[in-house]
Amino acid sequence: MQQFVIEGGMKLSGEVIISGAKNSALPIIAASLLTDKKVVLENVPDLVDVRTMIELIQHLGADVMFDRHVLRIHTPKIKKIDAPYDIVRKMRASYYVLGALLAREKKAKVSLPGGCAIGPRPIDLHIKGLRTMGVNIEIEEGFINAHTRQLSGHEVNIEGPKGTSVGATINVMIAAVQAKGETIISPAACEPEVIDVANFLNAMGFDITGQGTHRINIKGKSSATDVKYSIIPDRIEAGTFATAAAITRSSITIKDCCPDHLTSILGKLEEIGVGVGRGENNIVVNGTRQMHAANIFVATYPGFPTDMQAQFMALLSIVRGTSTIKETIFENRFMQALELMRMGADITIEGNTAVINGVDKLSGAYLMASDLRASAALVLAGLVAKGRTVVRRIYHLDRGYEKFEIKLRRLGASIKRQSE
Ligand code: EPZ
Repeated sequence: MQQFVIEGGMKLSGEVIISGAKNSALPIIAASLLTDKKVVLENVPDLVDVRTMIELIQHLGADVMFDRHVLRIHTPKIKKIDAPYDIVRKMRASYYVLGALLAREKKAKVSLPGGCAIGPRPIDLHIKGLRTMGVNIEIEEGFINAHTRQLSGHEVNIEGPKGTSVGATINVMIAAVQAKGETIISPAACEPEVIDVANFLNAMGFDITGQGTHRINIKGKSSATDVKYSIIPDRIEAGTFATAAAITRSSITIKDCCPDHLTSILGKLEEIGVGVGRGENNIVVNGTRQMHAANIFVATYPGFPTDMQAQFMALLSIVRGTSTIKETIFENRFMQALELMRMGADITIEGNTAVINGVDKLSGAYLMASDLRASAALVLAGLVAKGRTVVRRIYHLDRGYEKFEIKLRRLGASIKRQSE
């Protein structure tokens, strides 16, 4: 396994270029199975999760070429309808092929995705939505066995205990584009990645309206066309680098991003005291000013994203005063707190609320990554900690950040990858 070795205390400067959004690319690659037409995707991030999704669609029958962030997919025919356990266990988003296989082949056998470090991650809402559209689904021996005579449009309610579901909204949307009749998804998730998938499906020739609102309307259509589509920038990667500038008290420029997708993240940084300049597709972050404590309440979009909670916990751990973070989406998303405390952070966890008393400095330490965003938080803490920090099991990071250490090094950080 590999680790990052970070020497803390370096200032960052210059500019970083943001890659395409992981959480758009994964469902869009899966949705390409809907058609036997040619699909060309641009601005595809080169991530472990993307390569796992490519492995899965190739297993199902797709011909794929991936070169310099351009992904060419052609699936003349579906050869298999099963998503095997050894692929799904690596990446739970494999379940996105469910909707596409049901739409094209009327059947699918997908291994149940397990839970993960941040929570049980059920997919009952995906199943509820598909069943509403006339899909017979049985869970047998750890597999989702699904088949249908005909996907039929319907009013689909997929409200969960935490409100809307990004995954369930997208899976039902993909299944609905070729259903017989009209499907209405409510309450639909509004995340930019949901909009991106809907826009991709429309670029394929399908008919979706309402994306970005809590009510998405899909009129079933049989035909699709060749399509070329560019994935939106990754707002969480952009937010992570903005937080890196803040925690190291630096000023950097973040390029090829979409400031409109970061409203709550940038607003929170400004509340803490970070200067933020917004351009058309770039952000200038000035972390050199005095910062103060803040309270964060995680929420679905356009609220403060759960995927930025860990990174802000690292930042707030060295901001004078008492801050709080309330995590409302996932059950176990404070694992970075334990590792930050080993660096000297003063954090108390009370249920789904973390209380952070800012300390003057963190000390470098040997740390263990546990999940994708917690790992990013540990790297950010290492950038500012006194001395050396080693973050182990960085395979978690490689799932969702392209060339993370190379981008940080180009900004002036002292970070290198090595075998454990
Ligand atoms: C997507 O996960 C993202 N992953 C997550 O990003 C992100 O944190 C999450 O949306 C919330 O924004 C991808 O897009 C690949 P949900 P998803 O369905 O779709 C519960 C990252 O770091 N729920 O919106 O799984 C669920 O347990 C990852 O990039 C059900 O109860 O999230 C959670 O508590 C982490 N039943 C809440 O809803 C279901 O059937 C929101 O989950 C589905 C979800």
